Amino acid sequence: MNYTDIGIDLGTASILVYIRGKGVVLKEPSVVAFDRDAKDNNNIKAIGEDARLMIGRTPGNIVAVRPLRQGVISDYTVTEQMMKYFIAKALGKRSFRKPRISVCVPSGVTEVEKKAVEDATYQAGAREVAIIEEPIAAAIGAGIDISKPQGNMIVDIGGGTTDVAVISLGGTVESASIKIAGDDFDEAIVRYLRKKYNLLIGDRTAEDIKINIGTAFKRPEVDYMDVRGRNLVTGLPETIRVSSDETQEALKETTAQILDTICAVLEKTPPELAGDIVDRGIVLTGGGSMLRGLEELIEERTHINTMTADEPMTCVAIGTGRYIEFLAGYNNEGNNG
Ligand SMILES: Nc1ncnc2c1ncn2[C@@H]1O[C@H](COP(=O)(O)OP(=O)(O)O)[C@@H](O)[C@H]1O
Ligand SMILES: [Mg+2]
Repeated sequence: MNYTDIGIDLGTASILVYIRGKGVVLKEPSVVAFDRDAKDNNNIKAIGEDARLMIGRTPGNIVAVRPLRQGVISDYTVTEQMMKYFIAKALGKRSFRKPRISVCVPSGVTEVEKKAVEDATYQAGAREVAIIEEPIAAAIGAGIDISKPQGNMIVDIGGGTTDVAVISLGGTVESASIKIAGDDFDEAIVRYLRKKYNLLIGDRTAEDIKINIGTAFKRPEVDYMDVRGRNLVTGLPETIRVSSDETQEALKETTAQILDTICAVLEKTPPELAGDIVDRGIVLTGGGSMLRGLEELIEERTHINTMTADEPMTCVAIGTGRYIEFLAGYNNEGNNG
């Protein structure tokens, strides 16, 4: 191997960089902090973890945004600086060979944005660039052999988007994407507690609740967590004990939208491939898929065996990195044959 293969997962919540032979070397929040007043191109103040730490702690002229959720990725300068920053950071200073880079973008990203990412990746020093679809990357990362003529269903629940796809022979046969995912679970918990207890909590607290006791399906034992917030009537801080059953209630509508999307894709899937999925099951990936009870909920509705991938949060990055190998394998077979 005389080159470096890099896979970059440009997620709505986090960006991961995978280097072949090394694994995932970098994981940072997809946040960029700007100086609104700067007139030149040098208006980016921080990227990734440094930018996240600035949220809520900056003077008025600096704003922290999530470029992939809030649309600025079509801004060429931002994209280029972001890609350069992550690639340089992942490779370190020693590297002099130009890497082959594959980038996985969320499925909602427009053609213009894809082009911006591609150009920016070349500008950042890539020798070859491949932009790939998230479900394909997720499938490869989950250990599925996508080159077989066999239907697989992948449900990737990220921070901002859920992507449902049926893939076969290395391509997507049916798919759907909704802007409902892990972050919407947090928002649903915020709304529920405000409505039920007049308690206002922050997004971070909501995420903690989701991760600690959150569930999409009724559990045999109930878990509890003490949650601090501000009572909207008295204006004073207040602590309330929240149960896992309550999170299930809070998350019902949001998880139902994911279920509906899965069923809609199943209905459109050709019968042979649908049969394969019944045999092989549904595979969940993405950080959002770590919500407890999702597998059971999906099984209850679809009657199809459902399992979460081994490393749901890194599997897209790993799959993206391996995709170049997969392509190279295809080309070699073509050349030899
Ligand atoms: N243990 C967990 N349980 C439930 N949700 C989780 C857990 N860990 C992370 N998440 C959620 O995963 C989402 C981010 O997933 P990720 O796959 O990194 O998103 P993206 O691909 O959009 O960047 C966030 O909403 C986060 O709250
Ligand atoms: Mg993702």
